[in-house]
Amino acid sequence: MSISEVKTELNLKQIRADFPILQTSVNGNPLVYLDNGASSQKPVQVINAMRDYYLNEHANIHRGVHTLSQRATQKYEDARQKVATWLNAKHNHEIIFTRGTTESINLVAHSFGKRFIHAGDEIILSEMEHHSNLVPWQMLCEERGAVLKFVPISDDGDFLLESYKNLLSEKTKLVSITHVSNTLGTVVPVNEVVKFAHAAGAKVLLDGAQAVPHMRIDVHNLDCDFYAFSAHKMYGPTGFGVLYGKENLLNEMPPFMGGGDMIKTVSYEKTTYNELPHKFEAGTPAIANGIGMGACIDYLNTLNFEAIQKHENALLNYATEKMSEIEGMRFIGKAHQKAGVISFLVGTLHHFDIGVLLDQQGVAVRTGHHCTEPLMHRLGINGTVRASFGIYNSFEEIDIFAHALQRAVRMLS
Ligand code: ALA
Repeated sequence: MSISEVKTELNLKQIRADFPILQTSVNGNPLVYLDNGASSQKPVQVINAMRDYYLNEHANIHRGVHTLSQRATQKYEDARQKVATWLNAKHNHEIIFTRGTTESINLVAHSFGKRFIHAGDEIILSEMEHHSNLVPWQMLCEERGAVLKFVPISDDGDFLLESYKNLLSEKTKLVSITHVSNTLGTVVPVNEVVKFAHAAGAKVLLDGAQAVPHMRIDVHNLDCDFYAFSAHKMYGPTGFGVLYGKENLLNEMPPFMGGGDMIKTVSYEKTTYNELPHKFEAGTPAIANGIGMGACIDYLNTLNFEAIQKHENALLNYATEKMSEIEGMRFIGKAHQKAGVISFLVGTLHHFDIGVLLDQQGVAVRTGHHCTEPLMHRLGINGTVRASFGIYNSFEEIDIFAHALQRAVRMLS
């Protein structure tokens, strides 16, 4: 396949111009940023929105009668409305702002866990969960005497739906599954996951951290009970994320943290709690980041997600083909449906050494266990090199990456 055969419909030139950091040099080479799974870069539109807020509009929200506070509150709440519309949620107050996916999942583990999980209950995860969708459930199960069950994956990294169905029973209270694996790129058949869980009477949380940058999410259509994700992997600011939850469920759950903003009335003896979403948002939030998140949704709304998916898919296929030419290449994760993530090893070379030599040539990838240590044990390896793609990556960059990889392998062999 030549580059001219794989052109897609995105206006890549314009998109790349929106991300100034892509012009940076690293170790004397133009940056090729392929670590989007860890964190994506930010467009000027997001950076400017946050800068403007600090320069011209900063005040605390939900508290002041004064103009700046009202302006900041308006912008922050506009961001909630934008996220709700973007996700096709029924109500704005089903959007809880958090610090990121990790906090969103911990919120559910603490709050849903306290209210609904009892001794002997079962929670189902998969073998490819990120630590942030494993450790909170281990902590909860230890505390409540509940039991964790794991849906196996195939050696290629496919989610085994039949095994999942067999794990479900009347004991299952919650299924918490990644939508897209950060390590393998596997896209999990989440519609089926939700359908079968509901048939068994269980609720479902989807970890969407690696899905939101690559595909449009419609929580109404998915019918999941919770959907968690971070802004920083979808071209928004760090330290900001979302927990979508169905209104009736969120209303039944106790608050996560206590403090300002989450209360209705407080006396020395007793507190009554605020309405959704504020019940789950104690303390002054990351206001600038919330405003950045609003700008990020505006930015994504200017792009065609079908074209993004097509482009990233073409990058994935092109890179896979180029990399296959390298002797000893082992792809880790060959699921039937994959997002723009390629984990790999080459012969017996150490993933870390490959990562360092790529960095010396300006190519940023992630190496290690990718916060999925149990998955590494399941696959019998201790880490991989991971290249993960974003909307601004080009086919020319894949050529540079493949060439740099070939050079690194030659130097290490
Ligand atoms: N969860 C992030 C990753 O996969 C940090 O790299």
